[in-house]
Amino acid sequence: MKIIKVKCQQETDCSVAVGVWNYWDHEHVTEVHNGFTNFQILHEQFDTVVVLGTAKFPLFGFLTYSVVQTMVRVDENTLKGFNIMFGISVRATIKITEIQPDHSLYEMTYEFMVDGWRKMFFPILEIFLKKAMPWWNKRQWVEDLELKKRRQKVLRLGFKDFQGLPKKISNRYYDGLLECKLPIRRLPGSAVDKLSKPLG
Ligand SMILES: [Fe+2]
Repeated sequence: MKIIKVKCQQETDCSVAVGVWNYWDHEHVTEVHNGFTNFQILHEQFDTVVVLGTAKFPLFGFLTYSVVQTMVRVDENTLKGFNIMFGISVRATIKITEIQPDHSLYEMTYEFMVDGWRKMFFPILEIFLKKAMPWWNKRQWVEDLELKKRRQKVLRLGFKDFQGLPKKISNRYYDGLLECKLPIRRLPGSAVDKLSKPLG
């Protein structure tokens, strides 16, 4: 087996809790990301989720493929994603470090495991993935950024999911610990839950 490793890095003015929330907010994926046309939860439990998505191929958006992805929160700061793209297994490791209060560094490492006959195409795959992944990662990052910033802002105003902001404007301030409890609550009948129950 041969490995192609691609590392990407980004920084923004958000807490780790907001970063984890953004990765776990499945409902935004088809609304915000150009790279997905469908995104459905197959199973979600504690710190683990399995999704079925229809994704556009990086740089060749007219081609789509189905992907089953498992995502696990390994610890407060680390997420791992596992999927198979065209027979190539991929492990993504996302490490979010709050280098200053409410300011985080994202270290995103993608490991492509190339085996069998695909090794014949290793040099081409390596050139392609080392170009395509940073482009794809940047595009995802930009698409997510406003969601993260908005979430960060309202959490510091005391916003709570399904409760909203404090009624009194003078109470709209929170400087305590921000946490992201998984899984994130959704309204019953959410568009991402069509496959989460037994089918047929
Ligand atoms: Fe996103």
